[in-house]
This record gives sequence, C-alpha cells and structure tokens, in this order.
Amino acid sequence: MTETITVIPGDGIGREVVPVAISVLDTVGDFEFEEYDAGDAVYEETGEALPAETRQAVAESDATLFGAAGETAADVILPLRSTVESFVNVRPARAYPGVDALRPETDIVFLRENTEGVYAGHEDRLSEDLSTLTRVVTDSASRRLAEFACEYVEGEGFTVAHKANVMRETDGRFREAVLDVAEERGVPTEEVLMDAFATQVCLDPAQYDVVVCPNLAGDVLSDLAAGLVGGLGLLPSANIGEERALFEPVHGTAPDIAGEGVANPVATVSSAAMCCEFLGHDEAAERVRQAVLEVLADGPRTPDLGGEATTEDVERALLDRL
Ligand code: NAI
Ligand code: MG
Repeated sequence: MTETITVIPGDGIGREVVPVAISVLDTVGDFEFEEYDAGDAVYEETGEALPAETRQAVAESDATLFGAAGETAADVILPLRSTVESFVNVRPARAYPGVDALRPETDIVFLRENTEGVYAGHEDRLSEDLSTLTRVVTDSASRRLAEFACEYVEGEGFTVAHKANVMRETDGRFREAVLDVAEERGVPTEEVLMDAFATQVCLDPAQYDVVVCPNLAGDVLSDLAAGLVGGLGLLPSANIGEERALFEPVHGTAPDIAGEGVANPVATVSSAAMCCEFLGHDEAAERVRQAVLEVLADGPRTPDLGGEATTEDVERALLDRL
C-alpha cells in the first residue's frame, strides 16, 4: 500500500537536502510525497510562516519530513510539533566510522521533552526594564516522556539530566515524575545535573547511552553532542506523537552555505530512515542507515566533513549503494 509522506522543505539548505531524502525514500519504499510550504519565503509572500493548509496536511498525515525554516523557525517548528502532538524529540548523536570527530566514541540518544519547559511560549514584557518567562512542567508530560524512555531502552537503563537543585519546583517535578515511572517499570536510572553533563559528555561521552532531559537542556546538549560527532550536518531527529510524527534534521537553514549546493544531506536522510522505522518499514530504515554508513566510510564528503563533494555527489553515492 502506498503511504503518503507530507514534505516541507522550508528555507535555505532545507530546499537542497529534502529532495535527497525524497529520492532515497523513493528508492527503498512505496511512498507518495505531498509538498507544502512553510518558513521565511512563504511568510514574505503571504504574511504567514505556517499556512493553514500546511498545518492541516501535517495534522492528517502519519509522517511529515521537514527541512528547516529561517528567521521564522519558532513560528513554524513549535506549532508543527504541537500539531503532531509530539511528546518526545528523539535525537541520536552517533559518531560514524571514518568521519573525523572530536569524540569518536560518542553514541548517545537524547530523549528531549518536546512541549513545555521554557519553550512553552509564556514570555512577557512587563516594563521597559523587565521581561519574564514562565517555565511549564507537568507531571503528565514528564511521565509520558519517561514511559517512552522505558520502552525505548528495551531493558537497559537511562540517564536523567536536570537542574533540580536550582529549579526545585519545575525540574524537581520533572525529575520526580521521570524517576517514579522508571522505578514502577523496573528500569534503572542515573541522574546528572545538566551543567555537569555538558562537561562530562565532552570528557567521556562513552559513559552515556540514552539521556532523558527537559526541552531546552535537550536542545542545547544535543547540539553540543553534534559537535562531538562531526557537526550538525549529521544529526537527525524525530518528533514523536501518539499517532503521528515529524522528522527533521537538527540543523537550521545554514545561510552561510545555502544556494551553493554543498549542504550535507546525511542529517535529513537519516531523519528519513527514522521516518521509515516509525511507519513500520524497519528493513527500509536499515537499508538507508547502511547506505549512509558506507558513504560516510569511504564515499564522497561535503565540505563540513572536510571533503569537496556536492550535495548531489553524496546523493548519487547513496542511491548507488541502495
Ligand atoms: P544552522 O544549523 O543553520 O547552521 C550552523 C552551522 O552549521 C553553519 O555554519 C552551517 O553552515 C552548518 N551546517 C548546518 N547544517 C549543515 C549541513 N547540513 N551541511 C553542512 N553544514 C551545515 O544554525 P544557525 O546558523 O544558528 O541558524 C541559521 C538559521 O536557521 C536561523 O534563521 C535559525 O532560525 C534557523 N534554524 C532553524 C531550525 C529549524 O528549522 N528547525 C533549527 C535551527 C536553526
Ligand atoms: Mg536546536
């Protein structure tokens, strides 16, 4: 049966890397693609960064593949995550054999809370001098994330990163909810303060496997881990909801290289592999992952990885191996 994947290339290199992911998906599965607009370009045209028809399409499809949006990113990606009712952002940060990495032993999956914390959108300008932000943490979202984590680790344990020693109420609640669920399920956990984690993950990333964290911490710490494994051009992510999901590279529109045809498509292609897995096509997902591994080991490389290849060269190499 043909499945439809909603595709939103967005802006900048999103428009260059998403087509690569589409040709890869087209090669490994029976998918149809419906393309929609979002981001700076459509905002300039219509005054709306996330057109209603785009949101509607995402709300009605099982899976969406998103590239990146520029200045309007927050107006696009936050509502899209809530459209798929995503309670977790899955961000693997894995070093690849053959790719220069600061820490080649890194193999960490971040499970980031995806709806609340400081990204819940409650910011106020109270006076000329004062702005405030309300941080939102609920038991229900924290527990839902922990339940996902317990299933995700398949009998292994996970690490909870937080700052409950300072944010006693909000991170205190997050910490307690996550630890409670893990205990109920008999899943072993370790705790780490998120600032200490930032140091530890640089010094000895091998000690971490799956890391569960609040929204902002997960955003920052997974970008940090991207630096350890060879850059943002490699990192995929999945925004998982109960029924639908949205897949996107961790990186943005890369204005410094956009239009040059040299963006690394691996992050988006790996996001497409996560999409296959979510849709139940494990074999297709594995084929894509294998092709990525092989190309990164001895195929053409884009400049971010020290090579001279174009996006198209990498696309061709991926398709050859499929
Ligand atoms: P960025 O991820 O776009 O770029 C950071 C650096 O990494 C740049 O030097 C860029 O060239 C490099 N880079 C990123 N992806 C790459 C790839 N696939 N291949 C090769 N090099 C790559 O982050 P930045 O510069 O902070 O933001 C640029 C724009 O993107 C901003 O307008 C921002 O709002 C937006 N953004 C959007 C996101 C989204 O749509 N989810 C996420 C992050 C940023
Ligand atoms: Mg980020």
